[in-house]
Amino acid sequence: MTPLQKYRLKYSPTLPKSLEGIKSLSFKEGEKTTSIANKEEIESLFPNSYGKPLLTPKRSDDLMNRPLKVGVVLSGGQAAGGHNVITGLFDALKEIHHESTLLGFLNGPSGIVEGKILELSEDLLANYRNQGGFDLIGSGRTKIETDEQIEKSLNVFDRLQLDGLVVIGGDDSNTNAAVLAENCLARRCKTKVIGVPKTIDGDLKNQFVDISFGFHTATATYSEMIGNIARDAISAKKYTHFIKLMGRSASHIALECALNTHPNICLISEEVHEKKMTLAKITQDIADVIEKRGNQGKNYGVILIPEGLIEFIPEMGKLINELNTLLAEGKDVTALSNEAKSTFEFLPKEIQSQLLLDRDPHGNVQVSHIQTDLLFSKAVSEELKKRESFKGRFSPVHHFFGYEGRAGLPTNFDATYCYSLGRVSALLIREGHTGYMSAVRHLTRPFEEWDFCGIPITSLMNIEKRKGKDKPVIQKALVNLEGEAFKVFSRNRLKWTLDDHYGYPGPIQFDGDPAIINQRPQSLIS
Ligand code: FBP
Repeated sequence: MTPLQKYRLKYSPTLPKSLEGIKSLSFKEGEKTTSIANKEEIESLFPNSYGKPLLTPKRSDDLMNRPLKVGVVLSGGQAAGGHNVITGLFDALKEIHHESTLLGFLNGPSGIVEGKILELSEDLLANYRNQGGFDLIGSGRTKIETDEQIEKSLNVFDRLQLDGLVVIGGDDSNTNAAVLAENCLARRCKTKVIGVPKTIDGDLKNQFVDISFGFHTATATYSEMIGNIARDAISAKKYTHFIKLMGRSASHIALECALNTHPNICLISEEVHEKKMTLAKITQDIADVIEKRGNQGKNYGVILIPEGLIEFIPEMGKLINELNTLLAEGKDVTALSNEAKSTFEFLPKEIQSQLLLDRDPHGNVQVSHIQTDLLFSKAVSEELKKRESFKGRFSPVHHFFGYEGRAGLPTNFDATYCYSLGRVSALLIREGHTGYMSAVRHLTRPFEEWDFCGIPITSLMNIEKRKGKDKPVIQKALVNLEGEAFKVFSRNRLKWTLDDHYGYPGPIQFDGDPAIINQRPQSLIS
């Protein structure tokens, strides 16, 4: 272990006052919930778990604190803090009863279907406290959806006599948790299934979930690198940096990084969609800025591009939707409509083949594998060549920041948040609740003042097309163009375009001034 890793093992996440004394904590039931849309369809698909009430904390004296046997699985992409959900869960289970046990399912949901487990002990967890990554038990993207997979999973739960399962995942994985919960209820399996909101993308949030865990560490990591690149750009004065940022569909990551670093341009996919901006329009807008800067002698710049942008450009969105359906049906591009075909033919060859790559197990196009940065730098380069008015020089450099931010040492915020999420999950299971997502709330307040609740997962669902079919899924939260974070960005972006106002956030800090070490995502605050 590096000195910093060893040092981080000793960090003790602050416990919110609301989560102290777990033995006497319980929940009170609020109003019954409905789904956010497609109520009848969701109710008919989840007859046993639909309509459950929101759960908020209450204190009780006469609670049963018997030993619990719980399983935990990490699902989907890495997000810093996952190990702390597990340690928070473990410590809470042991506090509830010292004979409680925690089993890790190995390598994601496939570990559930195949019954591959690792018993998690205090000794084993000792080296994972406040560490990044998911390597303690591994993760995976298998979706448990066929009757056979569900049957096998329930058999594993029965064989292990599990009281509960905690699914740490994004929107699709939490949807999967709801499916398992529903099946357990329908088949009288005693296992309670609880979801935890994980994803660097920040798109799993709602009225009760301020932000998913991992977003803060990822954006702090990218912001450090963007700041460093901006400082290099303003020093060398010769490159225009096109930086593609992970985040799948939503542009939360790009927006957060823009608020931290003030790039010359940051595209926001949701705005592109709202304004129906075409490939040609976006290209012209970028070229306009580069021309103005170049004509002032500024032959450098920083441009942020969210990886999901491509799906929000109207003609590209149509093309991708058609491709998703065709590929799911085993057909190829010859079956595209004329409009989609002409968009496809306009694209550079490398982008064409990236669009045809395999979808992920949930039917999503793998936007990380599409070089949107290259698509735009090529288009902008062609556009600038046509402009006699452009007197500058254009030398693009490409970057993709994604995996670099997913598995680093979690910030104090993520470490503390995750530890609390683990404890809330233990509590929900002990109290016999299933089909719920753990939520820790009011995250802009000091850690001690955080609060928590349990959200029925079906209340977050609607019906969407996946792999060409209608499926119940948790609705993704996109950037709210009426929200404060976007407003702050849009008030400032014009001055960031031509003048240089770069911010240099520097590396994540763990020790020192609380204002620096306990920072929160800007999009939460603004
Ligand atoms: P999750 O939604 O599973 O948390 O994953 C997020 C993400 O990092 C996206 O930002 C990215 O598009 C995708 O995973 C990359 O997937 P993979 O890890 O399979 O390459």
